[in-house]
Amino acid sequence: MDIVTKAPRGTEDKLPSQMNKWHTVEKIAAQVAEAYGCKEIRTPTFEHTELFQRGVGGTTDVVQKEMYTFNDKKGRSITLKPEGTAGAVRAALENGLLNEALPLKLYYFTRCFRYEAPQSGRLREFNQFGVEILGANSPVSDAEIICMVDDIFKFLNLKNVALEINSIGCPECRAKYQQALREYYKQYEAQLCDTCKERLEKNPMRLLDCKSEICHGFAKDAPVILDYLCDSCSDHFERVKKALDEMNVKYTVNPRIVRGLDYYTNTVFEFISDSCGAQGTVCGGGRYNGLVEEIGGKPVAALGFAMGLERILMVMDAQNADYEPAKRCDLFIAGTDENASSYALSLVRQLREYGFWAECDIVGRGLKAQMKYADKIGAAFSMVIGENEIQAGKAELKNMKTGEKMTVNIGDKFAENVNSVLMAVE
Ligand code: HAM
Repeated sequence: MDIVTKAPRGTEDKLPSQMNKWHTVEKIAAQVAEAYGCKEIRTPTFEHTELFQRGVGGTTDVVQKEMYTFNDKKGRSITLKPEGTAGAVRAALENGLLNEALPLKLYYFTRCFRYEAPQSGRLREFNQFGVEILGANSPVSDAEIICMVDDIFKFLNLKNVALEINSIGCPECRAKYQQALREYYKQYEAQLCDTCKERLEKNPMRLLDCKSEICHGFAKDAPVILDYLCDSCSDHFERVKKALDEMNVKYTVNPRIVRGLDYYTNTVFEFISDSCGAQGTVCGGGRYNGLVEEIGGKPVAALGFAMGLERILMVMDAQNADYEPAKRCDLFIAGTDENASSYALSLVRQLREYGFWAECDIVGRGLKAQMKYADKIGAAFSMVIGENEIQAGKAELKNMKTGEKMTVNIGDKFAENVNSVLMAVE
């Protein structure tokens, strides 16, 4: 196939016929986030590469292997965002949002770009819905953000999604853990992939989420962070679990969750489903108390999550979920000749101003072909306008399903007349 007619590997067209699914998920996600006090933020699709190197971490798979990075015409290194957190935090800092009432609660929909091997549920361009809360350190805020995901999934009627949580502690307890990891991995050093050989000294935790098969195998028996938590981190984690228990949010503790991005501290979590291919994680997140400082702000405790919308839709499709119905055309007005068609356009315009989805012929079809088209687009009602109707100021509204006809005044207050007839039918 000609390259011009083929979308790049790992990208997906979202077609008009799928939009009701996207709108269902987007509407519920935004409604729930707003009920939690979050406000929407939109940030650029690309950022300076340094933001992700510093924020996400130079030794992560995302930064080392997966970013779409290029030099712009002035030679500046630019990267298409691989995730939404770093950009949202950068925007909050740059625009002084952290000087307003804290906690600052933000939500976003964003496209993300990662050069990964595409497979079912894993794309190179994908969509995330995310929430970031800045200026909250209490275990209740960890519970609140997890609860928000739980609520979104409840409203979406998503079933069999399991929540797994863990704590990866603060930099102090992590230093001891990293030493234990170095000692563990030393025995396998020669067999590690080249990237992991390099990471072993600098950031051994990243060996745990390396996607290479051999490294992945060694991760199974590696020491777990929960055994290295300091008292304060351990206490924080206990309180998060207690708050989740109180809200009746079911979870299991999985000490092997470390997340693939460097900014996390303390609580991390993933929501897992077996209905989205090999890629089970539909949502991931956690606390990232060091990120704001890392990218140049004062220390601010923060936490968040992001869900992959393509994966959510895969799960919903597999579960035959209910989506909001696709919109359909309310009324098609056919014209018997060009003069009538132009009159039909003025009627259609009135209906559109009133809020109806209304259509008329704009391609010069004959009457029969117009009615066939009305049927094809699923119009609920139709009306034929000719010289007689224009003269009489009346026309017949036809229910396309039942064939029932009702007379409507097309002169004064046309849209109101149609509305009252349709209301009476429903
Ligand atoms: P993440 O786990 O890298 O976290 O991505 C979040 C979600 O995006 C995943 O759980 C998955 O559903 C989806 N996702 C990731 N990669 C792909 C892909 N290649 N194709 C399709 N879907 C994908 C983050 O991005 C963090 N920024 C989350 C966060 C926000 N943590 C704190 N605040």
